[in-house]
Parts: sequence; structure tokens; C-alpha cells
Amino acid sequence: MPKAERSGQKPEPTDASPKKPRVCMLTGGGDAPGLNAVVRAFVKTGTELGLEILGSEDGFEGLIRGDRIVKLKPNSVRGILPRGGSILGCSNRANPFAYPNGRDAQGNEIFTDESDRVLQHIADHQIDALVMVGGDGTMTHARELEKRGVHVVGVPKTIDNDLAATDFTFGFDTAVGTATWAIDALHSTAESHDRVMLIELMGRYAGWISLHAGIAGGADVILLPEIPYDVDRVVAKIQRRADAGSSFSLVVVGEGARPKDGQLSTISEGAKGHLARLGGAAHQLQQLLHGRLEHEIRVTVLGHLQRGGSPSPFDRILGTRFGVAAANLCAKGQWGQMVALRGQSVIHVPIADAVDHPKLVPIDGELVQAARAVGIELGA
Ligand code: F6P
Repeated sequence: MPKAERSGQKPEPTDASPKKPRVCMLTGGGDAPGLNAVVRAFVKTGTELGLEILGSEDGFEGLIRGDRIVKLKPNSVRGILPRGGSILGCSNRANPFAYPNGRDAQGNEIFTDESDRVLQHIADHQIDALVMVGGDGTMTHARELEKRGVHVVGVPKTIDNDLAATDFTFGFDTAVGTATWAIDALHSTAESHDRVMLIELMGRYAGWISLHAGIAGGADVILLPEIPYDVDRVVAKIQRRADAGSSFSLVVVGEGARPKDGQLSTISEGAKGHLARLGGAAHQLQQLLHGRLEHEIRVTVLGHLQRGGSPSPFDRILGTRFGVAAANLCAKGQWGQMVALRGQSVIHVPIADAVDHPKLVPIDGELVQAARAVGIELGA
């Protein structure tokens, strides 16, 4: 019982219930399986903790335009846990600091800084903090907005698993599962036709998906962005297998892999504030192998299948844990932090720790050594 009541005095009525902290969540960059688990956990937990929750549609698009900001209540997130994508939508073009804004007379895209509009819409909607779910790009935007006085909380997401400061991002496990399934499927047809199958996997400049799926799928060769490859070693490995009676081979090619004297394969260069589009690494290898092997060589580019579909149990659980942790940070007003997985624990770290350098595969690490130990050729 409050002190005033115990003393017989009537408590003074409060003039108004305090305003609930209003936070706005967005899912930035490319999508990743598990995003909906984060949104669901954040909305359920945050509502219980007394937050009022909004969502910006299509990443920053909603906040840049100001008219695509929706209310999120526990009802809005019912049934979304097993669904891929994000109910809020994603965009890796809606960069508030370099927003695509038409074309010049030569047909080149123009990019403008729309961060003032974002700040204005944050004020208009009386938003107290942003919860930004994303990869390196989104965390960099979070840092920039923080410098301009916005309260932010970060949640790490990317299938590439290349974000520093967290052991795993959600989405990665599902992508590895899909890629492993694809390698398994290619194995049987490779064996039937005595072919060399090259499979190109996503991951940008980090070889985590390729290394994990390659080991899990029993690939014969894995080429990583971190280890520029010598094509002679790839030929020798396939030849050794053929000599030993295995007339087919499976080669995993990370999209960021390149020959030791060659170039990264790109589809298009990134405009200012935007990343280059990678692609073509497996076809580049196919050309380098041309005429050097008896086998037919076929290429599969797995592409966006790795980003789609229902999240694995691991990603649903990690997404849920991250969503809960982010809601707790908001309720306590612990701004400027990103939730992260360290070992078995969900912790939080300053967002700055996540953005300065990508987390690449350590080339002498235990996983690379394990791959070599079981006879996988890494091209160098
Ligand atoms: O960062 C995630 C990722 O899927 C990368 O692995 C890939 O290079 C890129 O996004 C593809 O992006 P987009 O969907 O824009 O082609």
C-alpha cells in the first residue's frame, strides 16, 4: 500500500498517465529468414513492458516518406513466426544518406541525403527511439543517426554472418541449410553424369555460407573470398579424384571468390552509399577450367533461394531472443546498443563495435583447418 494511503491521507490524483515510450522498428537491407521472429518477439515483449510500437515499412522508406509508418500490436504479429521475409518489408535501396532520387540528363541515378526528412518524420510521429534490424549498412546508418541525437537500438541480421561483434546473425543457419540441401541434390546428378558441378553461393566478401555448407555437403573444393585461389590446384584435386575412381566433383564457389591473379566478379558497381552486386564467380571459374578437364562442367547459381523460405528452428529461436533483448534495452532506455550472441548468451555491445570491420573467415582458423584435414581443396 502506498505510504499516503497507510497514513489515512487520500493520494493526490496524477493529472495524466505518463506517455508510453514510442519506438519505431524497421527491417533494413536485404531480407533474411528469422526477421519475423524478431518483429514478433519485440512487439509481444515490448507491449508487455509498456512500449508503444510502430513500424517503418520497407526499411527506411517509411521514415523517409513519413506516410508508411504503421502501428504494431500483438495482434499484428500473430502467426508470423514460420514465415520468411519480413511483414514490414525490406529495402536495401532506401539509404537515408544516399537515397535514389531520379536520374540526370545522362540517365545516371541521382542520390540525395534525406536524413533531415527522417529526423523530421521522427519528430512528427513523436518517436522516442528507432529499433533497427539489419546488417552492416543498417548499423552504419544507426551510428550516423545516433550522432544526430536519435536514440537507437540495433539487431544484427544477415545471411552472410559477416557482422562483427556477434557470433551469429539470424538467417545464416537457414541459408546454410538451403545451400547444403542444394549441394546434396547436385551430388547425385553429378555422380550419374560424371560431371564437375560448380555451385555459387552468396555471402558477399565473407565465405561463411560457402565454408559451412561446403563442409556440411561434403564438397571436394571450396573457394572462399578470403583465400584467392590457384586454378591449378582445383584441376589437380579433380584429377586426383578421377584417378582414384571418383569421376565427378562438387566445387563450392563463394560469390566473392576470385583467382589469385584475377578480379572479383561483379554484375554492377555500387553507387555512392550502395554496395556492388556480386555475381559470376562460378562462371569465371568455369572459363578458367575450360579445356583442362575431361569432364563436362556445369554451373548452378543458388542466388536468392538462400534468403527465402521458412526460417530454421535455430533462426526462429535466435530471432526471438534478439527481439526480446531489444525490447528490454528499449524499456530500460539503454540506447546506442546492438544485441549480439556471444557463446550461449545474448548480450549487448555498442553499435560502433559492429560497423568498423566485417567479420571474415579466419584463414588459419579451426574451421578452415578442419576442411583441409578432411581433404577439401581450398585453392591455396
Ligand atoms: O547481404 C545479403 C546478400 O544476400 C548477399 O549475400 C548478396 O550478395 C546480396 O545480399 C544480394 O543482394 P540483392 O538482393 O540486392 O541482389
